[in-house]
Amino acid sequence: MHIAVLGGDGIGPEVTAEAVKALRAVAANGPQFEMTEGKIGDAAYDTTGDPLPEATVVLAERADAVLFGAAGTYESDLRPPEARGGHGLLRLRKRLDLFANFRPVRAIPELAGASTLRREVLEGVDLVVLRELTSDIYFGTPRGFSTAGGERSAFNTMRYTESEIRRVAHAGFKAAQARRGKLCSVDKANVLETMQLWRTVVTEVGREYPDVELTHLYVDAAAMHLIRRPRDFDVIVTGNIFGDILSDAAAMLTGSLGMLPSASLNAEGRGLYEPVHGSAPDIAGRDIANPLASILSAAMMLRLSLGKPEMAMRVETAVRRVLAEGLRTADIMEEGATLVGTQAMGDAVARE
Ligand code: NAI
Ligand code: MG
Repeated sequence: MHIAVLGGDGIGPEVTAEAVKALRAVAANGPQFEMTEGKIGDAAYDTTGDPLPEATVVLAERADAVLFGAAGTYESDLRPPEARGGHGLLRLRKRLDLFANFRPVRAIPELAGASTLRREVLEGVDLVVLRELTSDIYFGTPRGFSTAGGERSAFNTMRYTESEIRRVAHAGFKAAQARRGKLCSVDKANVLETMQLWRTVVTEVGREYPDVELTHLYVDAAAMHLIRRPRDFDVIVTGNIFGDILSDAAAMLTGSLGMLPSASLNAEGRGLYEPVHGSAPDIAGRDIANPLASILSAAMMLRLSLGKPEMAMRVETAVRRVLAEGLRTADIMEEGATLVGTQAMGDAVARE
């Protein structure tokens, strides 16, 4: 099994190194994963003149999975796309056709004190937001600006093809089958033609999965229910723009950005695994970033792309044990807990 390791910028390489540690530890009694580092982001632009060198694309395409850190910094965010570190990641997602973006949101009992929401709402929350990642209003054409009619206007096009909806719907039903068998499709079919097609196609695909209970919600109602009764959700499947918004909202149900993993998969089930957070320039280089989001992303990789569910479980159990022992990085620090740095947290997980 071959893993491409793309640390990128800021805290990206720091947290990714701890995930690599966990992968080596969990494979300690068998064949080790082959891991190859590649360049992406500002780090790549500064040395090669391209935030996504072709060598990195080749490495990612040949690997069984990609472990990614973060790309971009506040300075490079203001440059044109070809010089922008973060743009390297967008291009890589497109090149690998990573249309299915999974963000699991799970209440961590060991971290209950860190949440800002009421405990009775959050206890037992265990859901996944599946966001379509390569189409929708972010990519639809025509798009642009106009001065027709004597005033400035701007326009984008929400567009989905049947096959784009179908493939993400299949991914949603399969994810539900592997969990509690419930899929909630989120759209705005009452107002948008694109979303009428969405609902129709998701319903059609659903006939192939009689064991999954399919429900539909309008996105505005979904936003409300997500906050009011998050426990009721299992898998939520939705389009690119609604998923962008709902997944950030859902993510905060459990507290810190430093705890949240994600996976982006293509049709072959190969994927890119990354923490939800960015390069955090404000804390980079100080050994204080929380590596758990990256470590939990590695666990998702073991389960979803490498076919090692028992290893995934061991990594997740190790994370819970370390939290139960009271170890905390600064972002999740609580009274009475033990403050540790990035590397010490990674060492503790690897040991467990
Ligand atoms: P960010 O996620 O990097 O940081 C937001 C806040 O959360 C900061 O205060 C940071 O210190 C904190 N934080 C993030 N991860 C943490 C961790 N593991 N442990 C402890 N604290 C953590 O988002 P921000 O500030 O909006 O973006 C910073 C840079 O990262 C920008 O250049 C942005 O473009 C890029 N970015 C890259 C992403 C990616 O590569 N997927 C995603 C989001 C942002
Ligand atoms: Mg977002």
